[in-house]
Amino acid sequence: MLQTLVRLEGKIPTRFRYTRHMSRAFIHSFQLRILGFYKGAAIRDLVKRVHHEVDCQILSNEGYMAYSLARAQSTMDGVMAEVGTYQGASAKLICAAKGDTEFHVFDTFCGLLDASEEDPLFRQHDYAASEESVRKYLADYPNVIFHKGLFPADTGSDVADKKFSFVNLDVDTYASTRDCLEFFYPRLLPGGILLSHDYAQAEGVRKAFDEVLGTKPESIIELPESQCMFVKQG
Ligand SMILES: C[S@@+](CC[C@H](N)C(=O)[O-])C[C@H]1O[C@@H](n2cnc3c(N)ncnc32)[C@H](O)[C@@H]1O
Repeated sequence: MLQTLVRLEGKIPTRFRYTRHMSRAFIHSFQLRILGFYKGAAIRDLVKRVHHEVDCQILSNEGYMAYSLARAQSTMDGVMAEVGTYQGASAKLICAAKGDTEFHVFDTFCGLLDASEEDPLFRQHDYAASEESVRKYLADYPNVIFHKGLFPADTGSDVADKKFSFVNLDVDTYASTRDCLEFFYPRLLPGGILLSHDYAQAEGVRKAFDEVLGTKPESIIELPESQCMFVKQG
């Protein structure tokens, strides 16, 4: 029943805001109980707080996944990045896990700019957010660097010489997912991890992964909700 609801929730177009919100709230409260049971009160309370503080577009378990991978990768050399920050929910969970690691946050802050017929769930300018509010929201964490603009066209050059231990993508569309994968793939360290939201629910995201990773040795690892990830080979 819950898995069916999770699958259906991901297929609700963004214009049905209220239905999306209510179904996500239900799934969220259920997942939080299980998270608290297995992982303890501290991380459960952090995920819960983030859901109250901002409009969070990821499920509780997906937030935990971003947190857990960032924590695991924080012992590696290299920097971290997120493309698709919106109001800062997933970025806050990564910040809580990353320690002092340099973390690059990319968003247009004007919402989606390249939604096309490949992305039927999304519309142009969905998820516009205030850069200033997100800066304030993450202000307590060290080494967080903001880049405003369409990635990688406008802001990729800011980090072209960096090597990445962990990247979180949450860009929704085919074109952005494809361009982000092409940018980050050669810049991931061996053992580096790229996590993406929406692989199981947005056909454009899945198409971009299948095209770009299809020619590479790494396997796409599907996670229980909408996310997928891969680990860069040496
Ligand atoms: C669904 S929201 C992200 C949700 C967020 N990760 C969370 O935890 O709630 C998608 C975001 O991706 C951003 N975005 C999409 N494509 C982008 C690109 N190519 N460059 C920069 N930002 C992009 C949009 O502006 C939007 O804020």
